[in-house]
Amino acid sequence: MKHKIAVTREVFEETLDLLSPHFEITANQKDRVLDAEALGHLLGDKEGVLTGITDRVDDPLLAQCPALKAVCNIGVGYNNIDVAACTRRRVLVTNTPGVLDESTADFAWALILSAARRVTEAERYLRDGQWKRWEVKQMLGFDVHHSTLGIIGLGRIGRGVARRARGFDMSVLYHDRVRADAAIESSCGARYVDREELLRVSDFVVLTVPYLPETHHLVGRDELALMKPTAVLINVSRGGVVDDKALAAALAAQQIGAAGLDVFENEPDFDRQLLGLRNVVLTPHIASASETTRRRMAEMAARNLIAALSGQRPPNLLNPEALG
Ligand code: DGY
Repeated sequence: MKHKIAVTREVFEETLDLLSPHFEITANQKDRVLDAEALGHLLGDKEGVLTGITDRVDDPLLAQCPALKAVCNIGVGYNNIDVAACTRRRVLVTNTPGVLDESTADFAWALILSAARRVTEAERYLRDGQWKRWEVKQMLGFDVHHSTLGIIGLGRIGRGVARRARGFDMSVLYHDRVRADAAIESSCGARYVDREELLRVSDFVVLTVPYLPETHHLVGRDELALMKPTAVLINVSRGGVVDDKALAAALAAQQIGAAGLDVFENEPDFDRQLLGLRNVVLTPHIASASETTRRRMAEMAARNLIAALSGQRPPNLLNPEALG
């Protein structure tokens, strides 16, 4: 008999084709958003699940799913999953590292350039029919070339952001909990500084850290106060790493120059004050959303699930202790 699994969000047909020889699948191809109750109902008799980063997998949910053996997240971030609770219940948890690094680094750059050169604001101005003439002082932005880029979190994505800065002749600084080794620093041309110095001297501050208790509100009122009045803050990590209320206040007061945000606290019900600000570029958590990358992420999650339920160690296992 085939193992029963669920796929909680709409995925590609090829992902289902990969899973179907192995499993009896209940797929949410209509992409109805599942609340905790609906998720509990869906997973009640399932042995495995492909989750999206919007699904909260916590102890009360696990208590309703006695047969569950594997939770395979379509996403590198897994703060939607209580991994410790899964481990206690011997449920394997996997994520999708690596495949989305370059696409996410590309997107950080899309936000850097858009926020610095007011691309989305200028397009709205033009589309709204407000462009009547060319002006010397029209839509003046900040130069990216030859400026200083500060990256907080020099993991794979942060390194990708750093490498791309070479083409813009930038000085690159970084801060991380642990200093990277010399080979990594030289391969991405980044110099280690403490967090305070990075915030004080960078023209662009890019956040590429995971969301953990230690990174909650890593950038809040005090950190924003250290930044230059022309600085641009980019968040492609997770909502919650930035205190969005404090950021909205700093942008409104022009205490910093601009921001580019792909992630927010309480998505998708983000702080509506941000909508009224001209100096922020806002996108709906799409940094990894290239056609190729999202397909790879879904495939990787599916391969993890196939391995997990066939008694093999899944390639991207986060809690090996759950193997027992
Ligand atoms: C991730 O993978 O964690 C992204 O935020 C969603 O693509």
